Amino acid sequence: MAEADPRDARTAPVAVWQVLEKLRGQDLIDWRLAPVTGRASIEERNLDIGFPFGWYAIELSAKLAVGEVQPLRYFSRDLAMWRGEDGQVRIVDAYCRHLGAHMGHGGKVHGNLLECPFHAWRYDGDEGVVKDIPYSRVIPPQVRRKCTTTYPVIEANRWIWMWYHPDGAAPLWDVERLPECSDPDWTEFEVHEWNVFGNIQNMAENGVDVAHFKYIHGTANVPLGELRWGEWGRGADVKARMGTPWGEVDGQISYDTMGPGQSWTRFTGISETLLVACITPVELDQCHTRFCFTQPKAQAQGERAGVAKAIIRDICKQYDQDKVIWDRQKFEPEPIICAGDGPIADFRKYYARYYVEGQGKPAHLAAG
Ligand code: FES
Ligand SMILES: [Fe+2]
Repeated sequence: MAEADPRDARTAPVAVWQVLEKLRGQDLIDWRLAPVTGRASIEERNLDIGFPFGWYAIELSAKLAVGEVQPLRYFSRDLAMWRGEDGQVRIVDAYCRHLGAHMGHGGKVHGNLLECPFHAWRYDGDEGVVKDIPYSRVIPPQVRRKCTTTYPVIEANRWIWMWYHPDGAAPLWDVERLPECSDPDWTEFEVHEWNVFGNIQNMAENGVDVAHFKYIHGTANVPLGELRWGEWGRGADVKARMGTPWGEVDGQISYDTMGPGQSWTRFTGISETLLVACITPVELDQCHTRFCFTQPKAQAQGERAGVAKAIIRDICKQYDQDKVIWDRQKFEPEPIICAGDGPIADFRKYYARYYVEGQGKPAHLAAG
């Protein structure tokens, strides 16, 4: 290895960049989605702490037509999603109570009901009951009452959102509506996608981990900003110097979250951009990330189009850099913190509210 690359590894500016520097175009897109092999088990990485409850982005609204069925895999569950003739999206557990077919694969929409592909039992996605069995005179009583798990679903910000709670509790807050997403003067989403083989709490902690910005992202200053801690959401306003092809420029970044699954960031200063960051757990050691960018059309198509594009590229590059760490990071329940680390303890104490006592709640957080 030393022969092929005679540079002194000690002088590399940022170590994780070495993983990324050769990736361009399709290679980079493939790397963002590819499996990471040889990683340690969920238990070894302390990731068996359950999923935090909240609203999570599942699919872009435009990708599910009336009458369409899609299989989903999120929260270590197989799910089936469909859009009925009334336009409503519904999500239920994928497996049919009859003989266990996966209804997301080959299921059909019948009116507003989901019809199993195996023997055509028809499920009501609101009540979680079987409404009709075309070949039988009798619907068994066990499926005439609630027999499958249904999930609250809403559409907002051009996305389908599902409420996840380990006990099936009703939603505790609403999805925040972002005006830019319904404004005809803002562009269609530009979507970038990743599979991160890590834990959503570790990923969220990144925002308050001030020391990593220098070592992972190479930013000279420490962008912590003014933190806001609300009942179910938190945020910050950050003044930061942002890199562009024309050098560094002063900008303002405001990020907000509502629960663990909804987060958005507004960039202003050089070029206005809204990032709708959709991060949804698939397994305890895997999250599906989709970054949706929208910008004022006048800006995206105007003379500053280059700057607008550069911002999106830079944000995605930062996410690539974090992914290199997240893919193999363990959850450290008792981290050894030093001066200059930022409010990591405050963040963890806050984030504990998204876990159910005695279930997903990590033992070290149960007391705090
Ligand atoms: S398995 Fe679904 S109807 Fe038989
Ligand atoms: Fe980061």
